[in-house]
Amino acid sequence: MYTITTATIQDVETIRQLAEATWWPTYSPILEEEQIRFMLDLIYNAEGLERQITNSEQIFLLLKEGDKAVAFAGYSPYDGEAATYKLHKLYCLPETQGKGYGRVLIDTVSRIAADAGASKLLLNVNRYNKSLSFYQKMGFGIAREEDIAIGPYWMNDYIMQKPLIP
Ligand SMILES: CC(C)(COP(=O)(O)OP(=O)(O)OC[C@H]1O[C@@H](n2cnc3c(N)ncnc32)[C@H](O)[C@@H]1OP(=O)(O)O)[C@@H](O)C(=O)NCCC(=O)NCCS
Repeated sequence: MYTITTATIQDVETIRQLAEATWWPTYSPILEEEQIRFMLDLIYNAEGLERQITNSEQIFLLLKEGDKAVAFAGYSPYDGEAATYKLHKLYCLPETQGKGYGRVLIDTVSRIAADAGASKLLLNVNRYNKSLSFYQKMGFGIAREEDIAIGPYWMNDYIMQKPLIP
């Protein structure tokens, strides 16, 4: 049995721990160690997460088994395009992958975005990430490629999108 809650600043440390536990197995096969460390520190530093949550720049959903958080998603309205939301983050602990939580979190974000009037959900995924085929299975298609400079490193991404059912 699982529950989904919206994270508060009380949950920042939990989000940081989930990111540490999922990023290394996810990205070690495709990125250098220094790049993973650099990006984790940039994206998941406590001050930045606290600011994003406090200002509602990004909303984080935590999925818990009992009282243990095992997965999270981050989303927000997307500034670049009208009627569009962006799924910024989706990570399940390795030991809980394949239990349906990724699908549940995508469905939850899709429902929230559709209820807010959005007709499309966007995301970025590294072109070499195994989760690409998961997203395709969840109804996302590749819109275009995007190479993003992050400090001295590059992220070679696809932008994927999915139409939302009103
Ligand atoms: C990718 C991820 C979010 C998927 O969540 P999950 O809970 O493991 O996946 P689910 O159990 O919800 O799977 C839903 C369906 O997709 C399938 N699936 C899961 N991962 C897949 C993959 N890599 N390729 C193809 N299909 C996949 C499942 O078999 C399931 O199919 P079914 O409905 O026919 O049984 C999760 O595995 C994860 O956190 N991976 C590492 C982090 C990551 O890469 N995140 C994305 C960053 S952009």
